[in-house]
Amino acid sequence: MTDGRSGGGRRYDAVALSLHWLTALAILGLLVAGFTMTSLPRGSAQQFVLFQLHKSVGITVLLLTVLRLAWRLAHRPPDLPAGMPNWEVLAAKAGHLGLYLLLFGLPLSGWAVVSASPFNIPTVLYGVVPWPHLPVLSTLADKKPVAEALEGIHTAAAWCLIVLLLVHVGAALRHHLLLKDDVLRRMLPRFSFLSRSPVP
Ligand code: HEM
Repeated sequence: MTDGRSGGGRRYDAVALSLHWLTALAILGLLVAGFTMTSLPRGSAQQFVLFQLHKSVGITVLLLTVLRLAWRLAHRPPDLPAGMPNWEVLAAKAGHLGLYLLLFGLPLSGWAVVSASPFNIPTVLYGVVPWPHLPVLSTLADKKPVAEALEGIHTAAAWCLIVLLLVHVGAALRHHLLLKDDVLRRMLPRFSFLSRSPVP
């Protein structure tokens, strides 16, 4: 948006915007599938299907995040609104960095869990693309303690992501509803109601 309102000015480009919302959707699905699949009876057909889907979407998020980071390095995102206090600029940057670290850390830790798993269940993305286990972890003599430790890391990372996502969404809503700036609207598709409606 080149109308220069509230100093932030430009919108995110279509690629950055699409990668943002695709990842958001995938993360929501992964969290629901993750907590559901671990509460199902171990070894059931339903659990197997959800595990494979969880692993497929999780690896997709890893690949999307690599693409997103490459795009971001080549296409500077819009500036934060002018006049934003330093603490808020720092908090926003730390939050974004934290999200990126988790968007890499969660798929990688999940991949490590299945690679170290004593059950040695192959990962086939969407039932089509065989995805190899990580080396070293898949050939460990005593896998169980390593697999359990990695499961704990994966679960803890999922809870960190939930907390950071709540802060992220809360901050975006605060900008839109309280500070009445463009921070949220710049990340919304042009066709969305909020991005067309005048700043409240
Ligand atoms: C951003 C991506 C991901 C998110 C947000 C995510 C989230 C979760 C959540 C919430 C759980 C349930 C934890 C629990 O109930 O204790 C879980 C479990 C699990 N995830 Fe992921 N996951 C992601 C990526 C992956 C990937 C890429 C793989 C494998 C290739 C994977 C493999 C697993 C496995 C094996 C479990 C079961 C662990 C256990 O039995 O405690 N995850 N995940």
